[in-house]
Amino acid sequence: MEKIKILAVVGSFRKESYNRKLAMAAKELIGDRADFTILEYRDVPFFDQDIEFPAPDAVKSARDAVRVADAIWLFTPEYNHFFPGALKNLIDWLSRPAGKNEPRVLPGKPVTISGISPGPFGTVLAQDHLVTLISYLNMDIMNAPRVAIPNTNKPPDGSDTPAPLTENPFLIAQVDAFLEFIGKRVRDQ
Ligand code: FNR
Repeated sequence: MEKIKILAVVGSFRKESYNRKLAMAAKELIGDRADFTILEYRDVPFFDQDIEFPAPDAVKSARDAVRVADAIWLFTPEYNHFFPGALKNLIDWLSRPAGKNEPRVLPGKPVTISGISPGPFGTVLAQDHLVTLISYLNMDIMNAPRVAIPNTNKPPDGSDTPAPLTENPFLIAQVDAFLEFIGKRVRDQ
């Protein structure tokens, strides 16, 4: 059987992004149980119906990557209690078909969400807004367990050093649950 393909989408372009590090921790925990790649989408332009067809190359690549993936894992920062505009822009592009008779790539696609922030609430508000959006787009959401890591995973003992993300029990549980969630859907196809 072919390995499950998970496409990770990180809502931050920051070099030292905590959310990118969270995605890398998920990749490490998944190990050889699935292929896990991070989508690079910095070149996707602002959505504009005047340039929608034919889609810009960066949009085509992103759409193709989503199409061939068995599942999507969104890693979102929280900006002003919302998810970042770059992620909304990407999802707006992905929500549209490549052409008149082309299928859309998001409906039915298994998806889950995680996030990490320096604040005390992780990214729960951003995640809930994201759930509203991807539910509308008919994605197949694994809503629980979801992971929102506060205080950049610093231990509650007042230490200033974040604990290793690969040891976060909630992330470990989400990895196992998502692999099972995707596996079931791949077997049922
Ligand atoms: C933030 N940040 C933030 N954090 C949070 O927990 N709740 C929030 O509402 C906000 N709002 C917010 C707005 C804007 C415009 C910025 C730039 C930042 C802080 C944010 O969580 C922090 O910068 C993270 O480090 C961003 O994620 P990455 O880039 O580390 O993945």
